[in-house]
Amino acid sequence: MSTASRTARATDIDATRDPLALIDVDHVRFHVGNAKQAAMFYACTFGFRIDQFSDLTTGSRTEASYLLTQGNIRLLLTTGLSKDHPAQQEVLRFGDGVKDIALTVFDAEKAWSQAMRNGGESAYEPREYRDERGTVVMAGVKAYGRAVHSFVSRHGGYALPEVKRGGLFLPGFRRIEGLSVNDHNERHPCGLKYVDHCVGNVEEGRMNTWVKWYEDVLGFAMFKHFDDRDISTDYSALMSKVMASGNHLIKMPINEPAPGKKKSQILEYLEWHDMTPGVQHLALRTDDELSSVAELRRRGVDFLALPDSYYEIVWNRVNTTLRRYGHEPVREDHERIRDLGILVDADDEGYLLQLFTKPLQDRPTLFFEIICRRGSQSFGKGNFKALFEALEIEQERRGNL
Ligand code: FE2
Repeated sequence: MSTASRTARATDIDATRDPLALIDVDHVRFHVGNAKQAAMFYACTFGFRIDQFSDLTTGSRTEASYLLTQGNIRLLLTTGLSKDHPAQQEVLRFGDGVKDIALTVFDAEKAWSQAMRNGGESAYEPREYRDERGTVVMAGVKAYGRAVHSFVSRHGGYALPEVKRGGLFLPGFRRIEGLSVNDHNERHPCGLKYVDHCVGNVEEGRMNTWVKWYEDVLGFAMFKHFDDRDISTDYSALMSKVMASGNHLIKMPINEPAPGKKKSQILEYLEWHDMTPGVQHLALRTDDELSSVAELRRRGVDFLALPDSYYEIVWNRVNTTLRRYGHEPVREDHERIRDLGILVDADDEGYLLQLFTKPLQDRPTLFFEIICRRGSQSFGKGNFKALFEALEIEQERRGNL
């Protein structure tokens, strides 16, 4: 689905009936140790535009934030400026990572109140940010572990269409001008369009609790599920259920570790994340996997490497599935897919191309997935085994298997 069609669907929602109707992923907030430097990392490696900021020079005395944009993706990198700031305390426990998957709604206060009535726990009460341009209201509900979902409603000059056109993100933010990395990124785009899905890792035995939480509190529904027969190697396993918002604006798979002979990647994540659930990966959507991955590789993004044997069997597997359901075979150049190390999977609806980065920070916690869908709405189940074996090699190298 293109960004345009997603927006068209989102505007069809009747918000008077459902205060939890989601309009868009407003932004994803990271808590990082040094937002100024992290902004440069995500700009240089993933092609994000360092668009706006707020810090001491703009009058923000407690925290510094940088807004990074690409397509319809908005990452907000925040650093606390004192040891007592909550963002700084989190960085101490978890390292850099995702704090908040913030969702645009028509009325943040109503959405938050509905989530509270549905049994949610408040992360923070409705706050209004206002200046002569307009108003933004935000309110937060606690999700798994450290994760929060903020509801964001925007009015006047801060309405989302204005922000997408380059308007200011929040009162107090200022635009960044004349940054050469932004010019470079315009000339050499990475083609990332929006957040396709956002995966959470929770503790063993807690997956169903959080599945129910998404159903009860946010009104999501189960989209797919995988058990340890789908996702296991000789050594490690996990279980996963995919929750989707009512309009499928965002999908939130929830993983829990399953017992195996050796340590699951989910348990490794938890052990380096103060045994606290959190976001494992953000999948960023592109319309052209090959161009995106080629550009990201040129920039030095470190992707997970698959054994050569993967490509000896993948075409037979994928094209057989596509034929069975009457779909055209994979149209991208097979040789280039192999040279770029991209993974392919197919199901009854079509195929997808995907590739996973290695961890984005020193701890083996958050990573990105670069995904392109050609009909398939799945998550690459056919790749799980090959992927897990590749991941185990990395865990072994880190001494964590
Ligand atoms: Fe994924």
